[in-house]
Amino acid sequence: MRGLWFLATLGLAAAEDGLNAWLRYARLPNQIARQAIVPSAIIALNTTESSPVYTAGQELQKGINGILGKQLDVSHEVKECASVVIGTVASFNESGIAIETPELEEDGFWLSVKGDNVEIVGQNERGALYGAFEYLSMLAQANFTEVAYATNPSAAIRWINQWDNMDGTIERGYAGLSIFFKNNTVLSNVTRVEQYARLLASIRVNGIVINNVNANAILLSDANMAGLARIADAMRPWGIKVGISLNFASPQTFGGLSTFDPLDESVIAWWNNIADKLYAQVPDLAGFLVKANSEGQPGPITYNRTLSDGANLFARAAKPHGGVVMFRAFVYDYQTLNEANWKDDRANAAVDFFRELDGKFDDNVIVQVKYGPIDFQVREPVSPLFAHLKETASAIELQITQEYLGQQCHLVYLPPLWKTILDFDMRVDGEKSVIGTDILSGKRFNKKGLTGYAAVVNVGQNATWLGTHLSMSNLYAYGRIAWDPTVNEVEILEDWTRLTFGLDDTVRETITRMSMESWPAYENYTGNLGIQTLTDITGPHYGPNPQSMDNNPWGQWTRADAFSIGMDRTVYNGTGYAGQYPDEVAAMYEEIETTPDDLLLWFHHVPYTHVLKSGKTVIQHFYDAHYAGAETAATFPTQWSKLRNLVDKQRFDETMFRLTYQAGHSIVWRDSINQFYNSLSNIADDHDRVNKHPWRIEAENMTLKNYRVTAVTPFEVASNLRVVQTIGNSTAASASATINYPNGVYDLAVAYYDLYEGKASYELFLNEKSIGKWIGDNEDKLGFTLTRGIDGHSATRITFKGIQIKKGDVVRVDAKANGRETAPLDYIAVLPPGVVD
Ligand code: GCU
Repeated sequence: MRGLWFLATLGLAAAEDGLNAWLRYARLPNQIARQAIVPSAIIALNTTESSPVYTAGQELQKGINGILGKQLDVSHEVKECASVVIGTVASFNESGIAIETPELEEDGFWLSVKGDNVEIVGQNERGALYGAFEYLSMLAQANFTEVAYATNPSAAIRWINQWDNMDGTIERGYAGLSIFFKNNTVLSNVTRVEQYARLLASIRVNGIVINNVNANAILLSDANMAGLARIADAMRPWGIKVGISLNFASPQTFGGLSTFDPLDESVIAWWNNIADKLYAQVPDLAGFLVKANSEGQPGPITYNRTLSDGANLFARAAKPHGGVVMFRAFVYDYQTLNEANWKDDRANAAVDFFRELDGKFDDNVIVQVKYGPIDFQVREPVSPLFAHLKETASAIELQITQEYLGQQCHLVYLPPLWKTILDFDMRVDGEKSVIGTDILSGKRFNKKGLTGYAAVVNVGQNATWLGTHLSMSNLYAYGRIAWDPTVNEVEILEDWTRLTFGLDDTVRETITRMSMESWPAYENYTGNLGIQTLTDITGPHYGPNPQSMDNNPWGQWTRADAFSIGMDRTVYNGTGYAGQYPDEVAAMYEEIETTPDDLLLWFHHVPYTHVLKSGKTVIQHFYDAHYAGAETAATFPTQWSKLRNLVDKQRFDETMFRLTYQAGHSIVWRDSINQFYNSLSNIADDHDRVNKHPWRIEAENMTLKNYRVTAVTPFEVASNLRVVQTIGNSTAASASATINYPNGVYDLAVAYYDLYEGKASYELFLNEKSIGKWIGDNEDKLGFTLTRGIDGHSATRITFKGIQIKKGDVVRVDAKANGRETAPLDYIAVLPPGVVD
């Protein structure tokens, strides 16, 4: 009962909407709080209100009050009393307080807790603020140990990239509209911006690019530059510098010049003038982010100039002001890729474009490289470009936005995926070259101070920031990992869970277990063995659609035919991509025998009957993995249900909805992928499960009233290839069937399709008794619009648990169409306990 009692002390009547994320400063239970030795005052060694040290003083006051219920005064000059003193090395020295800090690096800090004396010393103001958050994190987790240590960042660049559009939408946004923009202007209310900056500062993020890489030049208008200054002012007290994405063609499209040639004098002058104006508004602007010559964006290649000519144009404009240019390596031409050519490969593009340019970039250019060579897939090998940028600073681009990873509707804890990249030893020139600790730290190629991390984030106006509470662990973990890529991903999770949900052991163990199971499960039910996330490449990148990957120029091919699958990327017979790695790594990926199973189909084209190192064939691995993944996802709602009285009601219910949805959608994935490859290869599942659904009553086999039977596209997203849709959309329809299973207690799951242009209504009956009613409103509950079609995005299910059923009972769904939503039904599953079908 400890948990219940604990919640009572927190006053859980107050709804927790997630806005404070991991910075809730929830009051510790009295008997724990009593053990804390609390200083009696806070001394912040800066009086300027916009300074991070001042902010830190206020934050310490708020945090200690929240966590321990003690109201401390904040003062700004040294007094003789037991206190928390916070400041920079310089301000400690000026105040005459002797400190024994070791040499600190930029943004680093020293934290010393001895009895009721606490010293927080930053190398700079930002570092001091980080130290304050560290101390508060200890208190919030009831860690009252004495400590004295220094910590420094692994890398200087720890940025966020927002993909916010000027009209207020967010590219790949799943959590509401932008907190920065609306109607082509910067929002005047910066409250959410300040709150966001506070969260980011607490995880030691030091820069943010606020607009989409597919950039709109309207941000450069005078009014918007003033708005940018507003945002920078809101973020500066939190030690966060603001940067912006630029559109390469702006001199022409926005400035009215006849050209945007990067070597043209008028273009150079135009950009210099823009930079001067921007820096006049925001003197500490971090710099620029540029996507050029990619996916239809303009760039220097239009004028036969090199990408480095393009990058240097901005670098020179930013240089006098101390700014940097993050130049994206995500450059490829989707119009010329041709799958008929066995050697064509989008994965080759980045190295092909950038290898020759190493050494040609100005020294304030950082090439920003997505972690893998394609595009944030469920599994990719590390981008080989990191091995080629020896004279150029590089940063890795991660994606907290779960674009190909369940779009925040599926729980997927990302650090285990990131670790496969960050811990990878690239063996450049035969020497240790681990991505995180050697390359991104700047040590390997002597670029310290100019390397690091950027992460794409899609926070929106939603109170939970990311649309769902559990996804916030990814944002939290990102900051921790960018600071120290060797940090253990379970430890991060445990800290985050305690800070977000309190100290209860069951809560921590459950969330940690589910989160650690989540990426392997997602990989299992989406795309295995390095084949990528088998989603809709030309659509929203969400539900299953394996055939959409091929026969188009996007280059995310699987090359699946009736006998074989995978991309041959060998030098010997394929696209040559494997040869882009340094020798030892190239040799490993060149041979099937030495390529790890989980990347086999990334590097090799093999028959479905190829036997893996595990002893299974490729096709049997597909089948088994999909069953295993969906089975794991099915445990998530069950695991979460144990926290009913241990987590506040609002966050419990909201999370329960998403996990239940995920369990259903993972079955959609499982069945679609298995059905698709089974039909393509014509190879049976050894365990005879594929296309066999002993516990389902297919809608097309029911007695139908005002419903008609139809096929769907893609075919594999309907159980038994058929669904029913209402005839017209005004009359009531129904589908009924007699249950032929033995008497017992079952769960009833109804599989249907939830489109966004309409809200059909449904009611489930057992022998005329209503079991439950619902409407097709996932677009509201999930918070974003998935699709207008009956497909793998809209396929969903609702489950009613613990229903007493007798053989011969009649189950019936009554439905009413609405708008385009023709109340499409796929099947009703009658599930004995523990069965996932
Ligand atoms: C992906 C994503 C796009 C984005 C692009 C990029 O392709 O789907 O929305 O613009 O990456 O990173 O530039």
